[in-house]
Amino acid sequence: MIAVLLLAPILAAQAVPAGEDPVDPYTQSNANAGATPFTGDSMWRAFREREGVARIVEGMVTRNLADPRISDIFKNQDLVRLRRTLNEQFCYILNGGCAYTGRTMRDAHKDMGIQTADMTALVENLQAAMRAEHVAFAAQNRFLAKLAPMRRDVLQRPAR
Ligand code: HEM
Repeated sequence: MIAVLLLAPILAAQAVPAGEDPVDPYTQSNANAGATPFTGDSMWRAFREREGVARIVEGMVTRNLADPRISDIFKNQDLVRLRRTLNEQFCYILNGGCAYTGRTMRDAHKDMGIQTADMTALVENLQAAMRAEHVAFAAQNRFLAKLAPMRRDVLQRPAR
């Protein structure tokens, strides 16, 4: 049973045939991550480094999928890719030394119709995931402050 659970993500990863990336071509760059990294290693350590970030991303994604407010938005999306790029993005911003290979926030969320309430729900789920990892409250808020300016690229009709 445990072996099945461990293999599930690998099998899911193979669902996309090799060499067929359904995402439109784009130039990979850390600049796509939407924020500059923190300096020093205090934030990276506050998030328990790579394993902690992996648990936080998983906690957030799992909560999003179970959240009736926003679960529909994640249906039929490439969640293997989403988990990977979120890990890269968080690690890059927390100065964990990762490269971000995903799209810009504007391109990734284009035409999804994401509204302010959806953003609120996602942030609440991220906060719950950070709390579960015992990330200090001040560090949580410093991280959220890095993400906050991205709302104008994520929201379909941002307030002007
Ligand atoms: C500051 C807030 C947010 C951040 C930092 C963020 C981050 C990301 C990242 C890194 C990706 C992957 C990019 C790629 O595939 O190249 C992504 C994709 C996605 N995001 Fe967000 N996101 C945010 C807000 C939201 C909100 C509010 C929703 C909906 C409630 C959402 C739903 C999605 C979905 C469904 C995808 C998959 C898109 C696809 O595969 O085509 N995101 N996001």
